[in-house]
Amino acid sequence: MKHIDIKDIITSESYAGKQVTVCGWVRTSRNSKSVAFVELNDGTSLKNIQIVIEKGDSADYKEPRVGMSLKVTGNVVAGRNNTFEINALPGDIEVLGECPTDYPLQKKGHTLEFLRSMPHLRSRTNTFNAVWRVRSVLAAALHSYFQSHNYVYINTPLITGSDCEGAGEMFQVTTNGFTTEYKTEEEYYANDFFGKRAGLSVSGQLEGEMAATAMGKIYTFGPSFRAENSNTPKHLAEFWHIEPEVAFAELDDVIEIAEDMLKHVIRDLLDKCPDEVAFFDAHFEKGLKARLEELISHDFGRVTYTEAIKLLQESGENFVYPVEWGCDLQTEHERYISEKVFKKAVFVTDYPKEIKSFYMKQNPDGKTVAAVDLLVPGVGEIIGGSEREADYDKLVAAMNERNMNLDLYSDYLDLRKYGSVPHGGFGLGFERLIMYTTGMANIRDVILYPRTVGSIR
Ligand code: 4AD
Repeated sequence: MKHIDIKDIITSESYAGKQVTVCGWVRTSRNSKSVAFVELNDGTSLKNIQIVIEKGDSADYKEPRVGMSLKVTGNVVAGRNNTFEINALPGDIEVLGECPTDYPLQKKGHTLEFLRSMPHLRSRTNTFNAVWRVRSVLAAALHSYFQSHNYVYINTPLITGSDCEGAGEMFQVTTNGFTTEYKTEEEYYANDFFGKRAGLSVSGQLEGEMAATAMGKIYTFGPSFRAENSNTPKHLAEFWHIEPEVAFAELDDVIEIAEDMLKHVIRDLLDKCPDEVAFFDAHFEKGLKARLEELISHDFGRVTYTEAIKLLQESGENFVYPVEWGCDLQTEHERYISEKVFKKAVFVTDYPKEIKSFYMKQNPDGKTVAAVDLLVPGVGEIIGGSEREADYDKLVAAMNERNMNLDLYSDYLDLRKYGSVPHGGFGLGFERLIMYTTGMANIRDVILYPRTVGSIR
């Protein structure tokens, strides 16, 4: 269907005075005696284009209804407030799809909660129009960052036989339905599709390490799955995960890359999505733009886990979860550190080995590992990473301490046998980045179809 994107018409003078055809959905429609005004949106821009219809005394003019899809041919003219609009006659308007009066988005101002009940339609609101564009621009910015720094884009498997994070959060993949036929777990899995237990990957890191120890610098960008029973505003069962992995790198290098990458993508977002950032600033988080500008112009904070525990203990705050060395930092702790103490993004490093994964490099103190989490105001953790244990014996010892089945990790252990190098990387939760850059408070509102515990559509 030959037509021009509304974005191109409203952002370029080159269409002024020309005849164009546009397609889109009616956002608002106003009628006066001889003229009608229709705001049309085709999704290419947060802004609509106004169609001014000279209906004269045309008897068969039917007012377009909100939600209808139209194809309109008319002349581009300068409108008010430095915008362009299209002048059309009733005969220039073709109705592509009718929209009956039970259209749920007839009126504006629905709550996000209400819109969550209709994921198939909510994209037609300004809010979701803006979220999806931010999502798209950030994805492109992430690719451009890594591609321009010599990283190779790797696709790691989604179905896996090994559990990367080892926290029992893996969804099982099976073709075996309920049966009493098998007497043991081994027998059950042996008869399953892969002949052994399989699940949906919680992270592409282990395979990423395999690629990084040949290609030097790699990144993945794909879905990860977590069967966590966490019904919170920042947990999804299916989320998008960016995982760079770098050879010849120690913890400090990993931290430097994370900060540089985040600043790059946020700078790109501010350049490419000024309308969307202004929209979120006006409607969701006052001061968002200033906060993002501040983030890219200052160094991130840095604190060790041990120091962070001290800060929390001395805070005088009444936390729901008690704070003591060895505890996992909860969202309330993470937010206190980034919002109250540092008032900016802050890297927390060197966590107790007991609360982190088996693969992290063991520090000389024997108690902590070279782990890093990035905490940001408003969201909490958006990045988790580490330097990896590159020493074969130490890695095996850490796995044995956790009673892991070494046979399942023989490929992974081989990397420490054949040309092992210091290496590390991190995982960035894509939806958490979008929450942070838009001010959207619930992760369900930054992904098209959220999958959360007890809810799938
Ligand atoms: O801290 P995590 O669990 O780290 C890993 O998966 C490592 N293998 C990453 C690596 O070193 N390559 O997860 C990394 C990030 C978190 O900081 C968070 O942003 C996001 O993934 N994340 C989730 N996002 C949404 N819903 C969930 N259930 C998430 N779990 C983790």
